[in-house]
Amino acid sequence: METVLSGIRPTGNLHLGNYFGALRNFVKMQDENNCFFFIADYHSLTTHPTPEDLHANVKQVLSEYLACGLDPEKSTLYIQSDLPETAELYLLLNMNAYIGELERCTSFKEKIRKQPENINAGLLTYPTLMAADILIHKSHKVPVGKDQEQHLEMSRTFARRFNRLYKTDYFPEPQAYNFGNDLVKIPGLDGSGKMGKSEGEGNAIFLADAPDVIRKKVMRAVTDAGPTEPGQIKSETVENLFSLMSVMSAPDTFTYFEEQYNNCKIRYGDMKKQLAEDIIVFVEPIRQKIEEISADNAYLHKVAKMGSEKARASGGKTLKEVREIIGFRKF
Ligand code: TRP
Repeated sequence: METVLSGIRPTGNLHLGNYFGALRNFVKMQDENNCFFFIADYHSLTTHPTPEDLHANVKQVLSEYLACGLDPEKSTLYIQSDLPETAELYLLLNMNAYIGELERCTSFKEKIRKQPENINAGLLTYPTLMAADILIHKSHKVPVGKDQEQHLEMSRTFARRFNRLYKTDYFPEPQAYNFGNDLVKIPGLDGSGKMGKSEGEGNAIFLADAPDVIRKKVMRAVTDAGPTEPGQIKSETVENLFSLMSVMSAPDTFTYFEEQYNNCKIRYGDMKKQLAEDIIVFVEPIRQKIEEISADNAYLHKVAKMGSEKARASGGKTLKEVREIIGFRKF
């Protein structure tokens, strides 16, 4: 069985793009793989969150993961800081990570530009911490987006370097996991392309959004002046609205509005109203579940404890072997 691992920084609520991109596929792959899903709270310290925000964000992601169907019995669902072995492996990997390669990392250079007032060592060594996350379970597959490919490449470099240095084949080289056709791209509501939480207010529909919030966001979605001749090519913003509808609404609803567009009778207001209701039908049960779960501290405690125990069984074994390979031996 292959070991698949995915990490997510707890920086806010998950949206439909997260769901249709990865989350839905995570749920499906739990049966056929040895899955580790963790919340990267160490990583989020690079931006100096307050203790309250840190905790609230971790709790939110954990509740949302559970509400979407990640099963703590089938998978290992844990919080990164509940596996402190990660921090030790990070220390060890840092000894063989070179300043030059860390400084050349695109995400680091971007951070220097974006937050020049806080360029800390955690940012510089972000890729080694990520490699530690991956290698601590000797993961084979890591589902990552385009923005994380370089980090994954660096994880392979660190794994290879460790193996070479200690003349072993201990660490497998982690490969990117591709969802192929199961990856559904969800456009944002502001016409700018992808749904994302950093794209600005109103661009994303969150799984925790109440019906009224969803209605408001969808009604404000950017459109255009409408088609003036039959079969007119859609503007990008309208195309986005249609692709959202193709995912969220019934096929005949989609076809109906396509026809309305093609014969220039479309009223975007009507289309948005329908789209909003279809999104609500999908999101509302999830939202209710998120509320239920996040109010149940006893359950969250149980899940986190189980995750920590399973993660430490796996990570503890790796770390013990790594210490032995490096030459830390018991007297
Ligand atoms: N860097 C990832 C992100 O920002 C989160 C992450 C941390 C991660 N450690 C990981 C992803 C290990 C995959 C594997 O999205």
